[in-house]
Amino acid sequence: MTLNANPAITQAMQSVLAAIPKAAADPTRPVYHFCPPALWMNDPNGTIYHNGYYHVFYQHNPYGDDWGHMHWGHARSQDLVHWEHLPIALAPSLELGEAHIFSGCARVNGQGEPLLFYTSVKSGPAADRPPNEQWAAIGDADWITWQKHPANPILALATHGGPPFDREWRDPFIFEEAGRTFMVVGGDYADTAGVALYEAEDAALAHWHYRGLAYEKPRSEILFFECPNFFKVDGQWVLLISPYKPVEYLVGSFDLTSLKFKPETTGVLDAGFGETPNYYATNILYDEQDRCIVLGWMRGFAKEHGWNGCLALPRILTIGPDGHPRQTPIPALEQLRGRHATFSDLNVADSSHVLKDVWGDTLEILATITLGDAQAVGLQVRCAADGQQAILIRYDGQILHVAGTEIPYTVTGTQLKLHVFLDKSVMEIFVDDGRTAMTRVIYPPDEDLGVAVFAEGGNAHVAQLDVWTIQEAIPSLEKFTISY
Ligand code: FRU
Repeated sequence: MTLNANPAITQAMQSVLAAIPKAAADPTRPVYHFCPPALWMNDPNGTIYHNGYYHVFYQHNPYGDDWGHMHWGHARSQDLVHWEHLPIALAPSLELGEAHIFSGCARVNGQGEPLLFYTSVKSGPAADRPPNEQWAAIGDADWITWQKHPANPILALATHGGPPFDREWRDPFIFEEAGRTFMVVGGDYADTAGVALYEAEDAALAHWHYRGLAYEKPRSEILFFECPNFFKVDGQWVLLISPYKPVEYLVGSFDLTSLKFKPETTGVLDAGFGETPNYYATNILYDEQDRCIVLGWMRGFAKEHGWNGCLALPRILTIGPDGHPRQTPIPALEQLRGRHATFSDLNVADSSHVLKDVWGDTLEILATITLGDAQAVGLQVRCAADGQQAILIRYDGQILHVAGTEIPYTVTGTQLKLHVFLDKSVMEIFVDDGRTAMTRVIYPPDEDLGVAVFAEGGNAHVAQLDVWTIQEAIPSLEKFTISY
């Protein structure tokens, strides 16, 4: 067991521990989506698989349930389903002028040292504070305590040899290709938003040099590339960006000579949108099965619940034959399935069919519905007992409507396949084996727990419908596996 001697971490941990009772008592808090022990989280950071553990670090405010005082929280898991909370990994070094530890990534360098890379944001009013820098921290052998790297800043605007990025410059993400190690960082100047590319000069990953913009867009089209993730899946290069609107994917090719990315297909990774995107700021990892897992921040929760933010379910990302991504929840989640109800060959004639003996606010639902001559079909979840209100998932052959968000959608065959996860105030749905995903924050009345399938204006046929209750997976919140 490693104890942390950094008083900034001890103080932050005490604040988090004191906040746990309020967060734990909140009935809207998810029970199988990863959340910090209490208070605020945003982006997943430093997602990596190493030595049998999936590590997730995350943007964390240990002093409130709203954004501020960015630290890196830390948790690990052996299956991406059951989590251990670990002590906060990174706190701003106030004495060095750091105000926030912004997003970044993790790597083990050529000397076997675990490293976290992040954007160091300085203190002071935005207009006249020193520019951001990219910093690193080195972990102990157990990956519990982290020290700021003696070579910091790993990258600084004045020395890295690239464009001035006079507005923003943040969110380092590392990838390897053909024995070379690269880092992308979102950067922008007056009229251009760019994905700046750097290449490591040493196996220690302490020195980098600028290699140009791998991709750029006029700021009139993309305001900024927050959290650029650039990686290869199924032989294709994928750029995920969080551009202050729903996460977009670009799939294409990367020329190792010109170091330019050329996208061929683009689209929205998760279309769930409330007042803001409900899914944002992704990060990815590859595990020992060589699966590419994408993790995203679920946002848009009501304020003042003692917690705010969680991770969307880990998704396996592949590229389909049409060059667009497929996203499916990891199969390991099936171990949380509890009570099962199954229905097959149901005819739903212009009505709503309430499923008997099925209820809950932590459910998994798999449904295969044929539209038939109905004008629209769908599911109602979190239904009131009197049938008067529910959260709606509705498809009319052209538009898919999910809890108030609508997107144009066309099924590939004659059937609509819905895979729905309910977890208190969280709903995630995957459509047609992951061709589309939508994440939504929902606040139905606590007592509305029913599930119904419906058809409008004709007859639909439900080939198969399975519902499972899902068991809690997030550890007892009082318990930190490792002391701090
Ligand atoms: C994305 C983001 C990142 C930044 C971090 C700060 O949500 O704005 O660009 O590093 O959050 O918390």
